[in-house]
Amino acid sequence: MNKEQVFTIFGGTGDLTFRKLLPALYNIEAAKDKELCSRVVVIGRRDYTSETYRDMAKEWVEKFARLRFKEETYQKLAENIIYYRMDFTDENAYDGLDNFYREMGAGSHIFYFAVAPRFFGTIVNGLKRVAGAEAGKVVLEKPFGENLSAAAKLNEEMEAFFRPDHIYRIDHYLGKEMVRNIQIIRFANPIFSNVWDAEHIECIQISALEEVGVETRGGYYDHSGALKDMVQNHLFQILSIVAMEQPGTLAVEDMHREQIKVLKALSIPGNISESMVLGQYEGYRGEPSVDKESATETYAALRLLVDNDRWRGMPFYVRTGKKLGKREMQVAVVFKSPVAGVESNILNIKIQPTEGVYLQFNIKKPGETEEVIQAKMDFCQSCSFVNRMNTPEAYERLLGACMRGERSWFSQWDQVETSWKYVDEVREQYRNMGLPTYEYAQGGSGPKEAEELLERYGHTWFE
Ligand code: BG6
Repeated sequence: MNKEQVFTIFGGTGDLTFRKLLPALYNIEAAKDKELCSRVVVIGRRDYTSETYRDMAKEWVEKFARLRFKEETYQKLAENIIYYRMDFTDENAYDGLDNFYREMGAGSHIFYFAVAPRFFGTIVNGLKRVAGAEAGKVVLEKPFGENLSAAAKLNEEMEAFFRPDHIYRIDHYLGKEMVRNIQIIRFANPIFSNVWDAEHIECIQISALEEVGVETRGGYYDHSGALKDMVQNHLFQILSIVAMEQPGTLAVEDMHREQIKVLKALSIPGNISESMVLGQYEGYRGEPSVDKESATETYAALRLLVDNDRWRGMPFYVRTGKKLGKREMQVAVVFKSPVAGVESNILNIKIQPTEGVYLQFNIKKPGETEEVIQAKMDFCQSCSFVNRMNTPEAYERLLGACMRGERSWFSQWDQVETSWKYVDEVREQYRNMGLPTYEYAQGGSGPKEAEELLERYGHTWFE
């Protein structure tokens, strides 16, 4: 193992660390990836020792790690986890951190900022007191900034300290197996690539539905909301992969170039009231750390156009929400009906929880009839145990990539910048028009206004 590379998590007692980062590190340990970091420093304000922290972390790893929990593997990881108690907003505390790294004999660093973006600048200021920190890599959680101007300022601050090619803006959706599969499904199959345009497609729907609410993250979420938390990053990344032109090569730069063109061509058609619906689940205002009068949206649905030759006029519908009746992330491509009255062909790329592809097309009903019915072919990739075992979880894949120095599948600054421009604009239009945040029942399908949004254009959400 690489004893020199130290992986430090700011926000070591937060939800993200327990649910995603530690289970990912466990999986990396279990996969015995020798090149990766061996020491993990978790920074938090609470009063733990490394021992008590490791015991607590174990329960989360047992619950959330992809690979089967083995005590022996966990102990190997745990012996390299060090809990370092400090207030990361206190600049002076970084002198102590510097000493601590020196005593440890730290060589190179990876810093993971698993905290709200408003603290990124504070941490960087503190790290100026830590020898060698500027040569390290930094992984920045989304949302990157809270709006365009904050994001731009943050980017400057980050680039003034870290080398630009050492800045990893993580969007964990880019590490999901089926998101990485979209390109192959699109470009390696003429049955799709030849009809991938507004002439043949009626609409494309990108949904990220969640059963969970804000849980312990009310303090962060109430300043963010679904547009900033999910749409600006995860959903726009997916939309741009679905809509981009085929990159000249498989190189990441080429792919980013094409994605950016899509983001720049995004428009919200007509009046915002006919293209966007925001909602809030019943009971949200009673969640811990949420403002009792909060108007923050926990649900967003949008109708978007991509103004280029391939997509002109064809709607992309995007929706995401919390406390819904099911957890489901998918990209449904609804093809134009060949003849009035005949159902559309549908290609549904299932991203989670099940990974796979569903294809629906028309056939004749068997027997003495000319009735048309639908063949529904459902390929479940993740139903196979072997596939599940061989498919790294998103954070595992991306952390491993960062440790190895692979920059593909991380967000680039111009992508972040362009999507912020768009999200800032639609939020402002929506609020300026005094449009409401519609309340919706927990466990349902979201606000009825989001159904009406599609009905207005003769569409329905694909379930
Ligand atoms: C995070 C958001 O980026 O993604 C959360 O901040 C959301 O609010 C989460 O719950 C969803 O991720 P996944 O992988 O569970 O779909």
